[in-house]
Amino acid sequence: MASVVEASDSFTPFEFDTTLKVAADSSSVKSVPSKFNFSNDRSALTCVSLPTVDFAALVGGDPHQRSKAVHGLATACREWGFFILVNHGVAESLMEAMFRAVKEFFILPESEKKQYEAKSASDPIKCGNFNVVDTSNRSFTLWRDYLKLYVHPNFHCPHQPQLLRDVVLEYTQIIRKLARKLIEAVCEALELNQRYVDETLNMDSSFQFIATNYYPRCPQPDEAIGIPPHTDVGLFTLLIHNGVAGLQIEHDGKWFNVDSPQNSILVNVADQLEIFTNGSCKSVKHRAVVNEERERISIVVANGPSGEAVVGPAATLVEKDGGAKYNAMKYKEYMESHLTRTRVDGKSFLEQQMIFDAKVIK
Ligand code: OGA
Ligand code: NI
Repeated sequence: MASVVEASDSFTPFEFDTTLKVAADSSSVKSVPSKFNFSNDRSALTCVSLPTVDFAALVGGDPHQRSKAVHGLATACREWGFFILVNHGVAESLMEAMFRAVKEFFILPESEKKQYEAKSASDPIKCGNFNVVDTSNRSFTLWRDYLKLYVHPNFHCPHQPQLLRDVVLEYTQIIRKLARKLIEAVCEALELNQRYVDETLNMDSSFQFIATNYYPRCPQPDEAIGIPPHTDVGLFTLLIHNGVAGLQIEHDGKWFNVDSPQNSILVNVADQLEIFTNGSCKSVKHRAVVNEERERISIVVANGPSGEAVVGPAATLVEKDGGAKYNAMKYKEYMESHLTRTRVDGKSFLEQQMIFDAKVIK
């Protein structure tokens, strides 16, 4: 869910008969059409040390293993904001079915997809391309087709292709349970009362959406971008991809290429977790680059608190830290403000919520 670039009232979706997919698939496309031109340095270092979190240990009965995993999770959220989740128990066959179903959707006739073309940022089902605005006020289109669905507390999904509905329902339910366990574990590490966490975030009504991203092969990868730098909304984002690398993350002011082993899940801290933990967990900037050789599909699930939850720094952390570092805001409203921003590389919406007070910022 590309926060800075999500649909805004002012963005103009592509005409569907000239979608990116069609344009990119056409053998006549040897260079990137000018409307995709986004020049920005996207060189990145190879990331060798992304932390790994063992989910089985996190929920298992061995207290020593468990406490090690909880501690490792909290450290990863603090130092990287990103980690690789292993032993998560999500069946490989379900992940494969997800990629198959998503691909089936993207290759549907354009006339079929047109009914889901984004009309407003809050449509529960929407697909298309994005136009965003760079720092010099130039508008450009992302090298990506997307399909985004709100799946909890209310489930929305196109009826075609048939496979999609069944697998998205099953997959997002499983991911929601994983995300909830991760949230509980990270809050435990911060010594937050679980009842307080559950009541404040109202996790039974957690707002969850899935964004599937289709990045076609790109004849000039340096001239276009899949998703420019952004942070995600929600508590934890869980991402899988079809084995083609393309994600880059910012760490200590440098950009790193991130790859994750087949069948693992890439997890990142999102804005509401940074806010709730008063900055202990970091929602870090990331972006998706494209390549010449292989098309890439990523499936991204954003797991939030309830849309009605007012998320601010947890009371005990505010006390411990000597002050709140962020403003509190209803998640639904945060999401709306965040998703209607189309400007890239500017100040992020999260940064706007920070309270810069000499007393609390060390
Ligand atoms: C996103 C996102 C990265 C990727 O959808 O928010 O960051 O690798 N995607 O597709
Ligand atoms: Ni993202």
